[in-house]
Amino acid sequence: MISKLVTLALLSRFILCSSLPNVPGATFGSSPSPFEVEVDPGFIDSVYDRVLHARSPAPLDGLNPANADGPGLDDFHKIRDFWLHEYDWNKTQQSINEKFKQFTTTVESPQSNYSHPVPLHFVHHQSPRTDASPLLFIHGWPGSFLEVEHIIDLLTNPPNSSLPAFHVVAPSIPGFGFSPAPQYPGYGPLEAAHSFNSLMIQLNYTKYLINGGDFGSVILRFQANAYPENVVSVLSNFWVIRPNATDNARLAANTTTPDETQYMTALNNYVTKNSGYRFIQQTQPLTVAYSLTDSPLGFAVWIWSLIKHTLDPAIKKFTPQELITWSMMYTIQGPYAGLRFYKESQQEGNFEGFSFGTLPYVSQPAAISEFPYDAWFGLPLDWAQREGNVQVRYVHTRGGHFAAYEVPELLARDLWTWFGGLV
Ligand SMILES: *[C@@H]1O[C@H](CO)[C@@H](O)[C@H](O)[C@H]1NC(C)=O
Ligand SMILES: *[C@@H]1O[C@H](CO)[C@@H](O)[C@H](O)[C@H]1NC(C)=O
Ligand SMILES: *[C@@H]1O[C@H](CO)[C@@H](O)[C@H](O)[C@H]1NC(C)=O
Ligand SMILES: *[C@@H]1O[C@H](CO)[C@@H](O)[C@H](O)[C@H]1NC(C)=O
Ligand SMILES: *[C@@H]1O[C@H](CO)[C@@H](O)[C@H](O)[C@H]1NC(C)=O
Ligand SMILES: *[C@@H]1O[C@H](CO)[C@@H](O)[C@H](O)[C@H]1NC(C)=O
Repeated sequence: MISKLVTLALLSRFILCSSLPNVPGATFGSSPSPFEVEVDPGFIDSVYDRVLHARSPAPLDGLNPANADGPGLDDFHKIRDFWLHEYDWNKTQQSINEKFKQFTTTVESPQSNYSHPVPLHFVHHQSPRTDASPLLFIHGWPGSFLEVEHIIDLLTNPPNSSLPAFHVVAPSIPGFGFSPAPQYPGYGPLEAAHSFNSLMIQLNYTKYLINGGDFGSVILRFQANAYPENVVSVLSNFWVIRPNATDNARLAANTTTPDETQYMTALNNYVTKNSGYRFIQQTQPLTVAYSLTDSPLGFAVWIWSLIKHTLDPAIKKFTPQELITWSMMYTIQGPYAGLRFYKESQQEGNFEGFSFGTLPYVSQPAAISEFPYDAWFGLPLDWAQREGNVQVRYVHTRGGHFAAYEVPELLARDLWTWFGGLV
């Protein structure tokens, strides 16, 4: 009787956190188990109906440029029409299942302030090379594990044997993709760092490397700081350092170097012109979650407003097919948890109001990769060193915020060069 009760209690702990809205087959056991995406077709129909009945804002004659207030109506119509006439979720889902070896599991991190078990979805591709090193790839906002799509084969199967190979693990942050949303507040980048370390240990990768941009890069800084015995090194493509009062005074006095000027100008542009989404997500995520949960098209445009500003226009990635699929990685379970990750992140120091904040120091050897269409391009190496043992910066002439997706060959080269010298 008692043992039955204990078993029930143990089971119920996993059952409690084991469901994923609109993906009825998803289960999260205590060890990795293969997973394929299979979304409830009734939900897909309801998404289609909502897109079909979406109302369009009235155009404003003479608005110049047409996207001065956000993505223009022509973008809105293009996305809507593609969704209604061409988008095929079944095919998309099949292609995700063909491209990725996916798993689910549950991790526990007793040392974390978040004391509940955390159900996770992740991609895990092992390299055939016996000398491969484990590499954790962490996505960001408004992306998902799909960010790893174009780079994963280069990393597991590099074009020649003199380049290092990696076993790649690409988890979904809880609330994104197919990792269920946290059930309680208090789960931010620091807690994700604890969960992802627990995941790597569960996979028997006790020493590993990390790459990430956006939130991935915030999480990797917490993770490297908390687990010096496990995280050997990191390469970040979003290493933001907040300018201090001296820097701002030097900018005003025109005594900054060209790199510093470029960095501070890019960051300032992002903060003043393009951070509205972030401020509402940091402060009142539920307010905006009501309408964004109800309108899949509205949500796709919400993330498009950010994505479009951080793409390299010369690289023709990001078709409506890609945008809708990226947006579905939030819409399927509902976007609230992804939206409010910003609030948790602010509470952990990543943002201070409109500005960026500061993060824990990374003492492991680290590298940074900078891409010109990202929000933080130009960061000098000595600035990067204010928050970590950053030894190299790779500065590129192409690519933007989603480097792994947009310019996989450039980011892969940095990962080969940097990690190849270490492991
Ligand atoms: C997608 O697949 C589901 C079940 O597998 C099916 O019921 C549905 O009709 C399909 N939808 C389309 C648009 O093909
Ligand atoms: C728990 O939260 C406190 C306060 O936010 C933080 O300083 C501390 O690092 C956290 N502990 C762990 C193990 O994450
Ligand atoms: C392997 O690839 C690297 C990077 O592209 C190149 O520099 C090197 O010459 C190649 N080596 C061989 C043996 O092909
Ligand atoms: C990790 O190692 C343990 C002990 O050798 C083994 O039981 C377990 O199956 C391994 N886990 C994975 C995911 O390979
Ligand atoms: C800003 O950072 C630089 C470099 O670390 C430092 O020399 C300077 O004192 C800092 N200024 C302030 C006001 O903290
Ligand atoms: C800095 O340069 C700008 C533009 O060239 C100029 O308007 C401004 O007066 C300069 N400021 C100082 C303090 O020299």
